[in-house]
Amino acid sequence: MEEKRAKRRIVLVPVPAQGHVTPIMQLGKALHSKGFSITVVLTQYNRVSSSKDFSEFHFITIPGSLTESDLKNLGPLQFMTKLNQICEASFKHCLGQILQEQGNQDDIACVVYDEYMYFSKTAAKEFQLPSVVFSTTNATAFVCRSVLAKVNEERFLIDMKDPEMRDKVFPELHPLRYKDLPTSAFGPIEGMLKIYSESVNIGTASAVIINSASCLESSSLARLHEDLKVPVYPIGPLHIAASAPSSLLEEDRSCIEWLDKQKPSSVIYISLGSLALMETKDVLEMAWGLSNSNQPFLWVIRPGSIPASEWTESLPEEFSNLVSERGYIVKWSPQMEVLRHPAVGGFWSHCGWNSTLESVGEGVPMICRPFTGDQKVNARYIESVWRVGVQLEGELEKGTVERAVKRLIVDEEGEEMRKRAIGLKEKLEASVRGGGSSFTSLDDFVNSLKTKDS
Ligand code: UDX
Repeated sequence: MEEKRAKRRIVLVPVPAQGHVTPIMQLGKALHSKGFSITVVLTQYNRVSSSKDFSEFHFITIPGSLTESDLKNLGPLQFMTKLNQICEASFKHCLGQILQEQGNQDDIACVVYDEYMYFSKTAAKEFQLPSVVFSTTNATAFVCRSVLAKVNEERFLIDMKDPEMRDKVFPELHPLRYKDLPTSAFGPIEGMLKIYSESVNIGTASAVIINSASCLESSSLARLHEDLKVPVYPIGPLHIAASAPSSLLEEDRSCIEWLDKQKPSSVIYISLGSLALMETKDVLEMAWGLSNSNQPFLWVIRPGSIPASEWTESLPEEFSNLVSERGYIVKWSPQMEVLRHPAVGGFWSHCGWNSTLESVGEGVPMICRPFTGDQKVNARYIESVWRVGVQLEGELEKGTVERAVKRLIVDEEGEEMRKRAIGLKEKLEASVRGGGSSFTSLDDFVNSLKTKDS
């Protein structure tokens, strides 16, 4: 009788940040449902929800050597650069151990690493394991990054200082303008270009998985496929295909009870993701604008996201007065449940890719206020390509905030955006159902991993 073989294993390597952990854990769920065992390799700096949803996953933590002061003082780009330097050796060691325990090299189907954890490809290559890049942004942002990585640095710096140039459409990337390109607010452009040239240089990777769907960006996907010369698998939105709660912060569920008391499609939900920081003057303009709009609002203010404040205590009394009448504030929400709630009529977002997919996936139109990186690309697409939102550009001012909320929630224009968003929601749901493009793409990826004897 043939000896029963263990399931083939996929090793996942996430970036230690909420917006990256969430989609890679969903990917793990999707691959687990296709019969793979899942090992998640964490650095000392990740936390992952220990929820029962992941009880069948195997977790390994590799050591790093960042000091407390590094963790406090390094900006995100420097942090990622350093993490890649210090984790290469420990990841190699870890993979070696997994292989020893497995006893058979063929039992690891591949290493899937977040595009910013590019140290993984070296170790995978050494052990002759296939490696696969996972992009938590969309294909358009990936294309932009490879264009940027190729752009002459000097020319780019000059262009970005010119206000007229900032508003011009970037020739190869219509309808993105220079100012929509995924540059960073976190540090000098040189550092960002270095990270981009590493992450878009997929090197020895044999494929790229993208948390997107062809109904959202078919031409960028085609271009990416052509540029990278390896298969590109758009298998999203993963939160619909394989929901897997992985919140790193405690969700305040009292906001659902508050939403239950509001009228249908009346509430504007505000959340700026897990990293964005606010300026006090902007918080006040937002509070004034929201209050003047006369619409109820649910606002996520993360502890530490306002300068000199643990939470909101450094804000003037005026803030509490403006909020108390028709607003509700939480430190962290169950976002997907909020967006699904019938009382929510619009989402003010920083346009992180997960938030964008979650909002469009629920047919909720958006007010876009991007901060950095791919968020600017997403905002432009939301407003100008999918036409399911309005972007607030320039200085934040209470009058423009009030108008944007009314356009979205009260005006006919908002109703049109909602209809288009619902149309996209239906297309996205169809794409992850049997026969849909993302469903088929996931199957194609899984089939590509099959060995002769499996
Ligand atoms: C970042 C980038 O912005 C994003 O574009 C990139 O692809 C991944 O990293 P982040 O800024 O945190 O992520 O935003 P986003 O991608 O929107 O992810 C935030 C996640 O946190 C979402 O899944 C959202 O549902 C969740 N969230 C946010 C909550 O569960 N509760 C909240 O109160 C706020």
